[in-house]
Amino acid sequence: MSGPLLLSIESSCDETGVAVIDGGRRILSNVVASQVALHAPTGGIVPELAARAHLRWIVPSLDEAWTAAGVDWRDIDGIAVTYGPGLAGSLLVGINFAKALSWVHDVPLIGVNHLEGHLYAAWLLDPGEDETTKQEPILPLVATIVSGGHTFIAEMTDHLTYRLLGTTVDDAAGEAFDKVGRLLGLGYPGGPAIQKAAEGAVQRDVRFPRAWMGDSYDLSFSGLKTAARRIVADARAAEGIAPDDTETPLGEATTAELAWGFQDSVVDVLATKTARAAKEVGARSIILGGGVAANSCLRERMAAEADTLGIPLIVPRPGLCTDNGAMIGAAGARRFEAGERARLDLDARPSLPLAKR
Ligand code: KG4
Ligand code: ZN
Repeated sequence: MSGPLLLSIESSCDETGVAVIDGGRRILSNVVASQVALHAPTGGIVPELAARAHLRWIVPSLDEAWTAAGVDWRDIDGIAVTYGPGLAGSLLVGINFAKALSWVHDVPLIGVNHLEGHLYAAWLLDPGEDETTKQEPILPLVATIVSGGHTFIAEMTDHLTYRLLGTTVDDAAGEAFDKVGRLLGLGYPGGPAIQKAAEGAVQRDVRFPRAWMGDSYDLSFSGLKTAARRIVADARAAEGIAPDDTETPLGEATTAELAWGFQDSVVDVLATKTARAAKEVGARSIILGGGVAANSCLRERMAAEADTLGIPLIVPRPGLCTDNGAMIGAAGARRFEAGERARLDLDARPSLPLAKR
């Protein structure tokens, strides 16, 4: 495949990711060390623990990715690393590791925006996957990126060129999933747990509110979270659970209906707004990315919307929607080919944005 061979490193949040990517598309190896078990007891990420875990796992992750790819340092054209947005301490582990490798092996360093990584995951090909039959994103496109820290809809007119159409004005969609998951006693992370619980819903008639934010493409999930707190409290009272009883869980059937109702609200707003944006800007395809894009209901509903518009939806397989190193290699290759190189004073940018309005 043409294009650079990159080693790519992701450590912005709670997954240590190291990958080797050929030509910005082909995954030669992609190792992800998850910290889910580490953060589960606290029901959320503890930044200090996350940074230490990256430090613990980054060398073994490189070893595994390197061996699996079967490459040599002479073949590597560059090292792509996430420099923001994310947790400062976590980002610094990946950045400093990448810098050391770049200096020792004398290969260029490329700084990558994590959100651009989620977007470029749409171009990735698994080992052995047929590139002639895989649908590639078609420009101009609309990309909806929904993760634990970010939720936005952007227009992508050309490679590396974006216009922000709308963004969450408060919580990210993934954050809402995680908080409501905790409310329902489903554990951490809430997203996959809510999806699983919702599969058991039968009646599917619980209605959670939708924040449409007028005609804008902006999104809001904090009102939904507050509504969820009220709806869950009412359901607990209806089941005869005392308000001060935090031990007794809601019945399984009720939990399933509530999980479904919450998920339906998030999916409805995201899919409706994305489809309207795609129509308005004349998009030729839609990209869905970020951890919440692993959600099967969101994937199905977005596919239906794209189908109605007569354009393809490109959404990576679930393992490439959640944080990984491969997506950083995909975005990094485009930056590399555009001539971008980072210096050894590259610093973490915890609030790095992707696009302006
Ligand atoms: O992109 P990501 O791995 O990390 C960030 O950059 O934030 O996204 C993590 C988020 C978490 O909030 C998690 O609950 C959510 O993605 N998530 C899901 C699913 N899988 C992960 N949300 C809904 N349904 C899922 N299947
Ligand atoms: Zn992410």
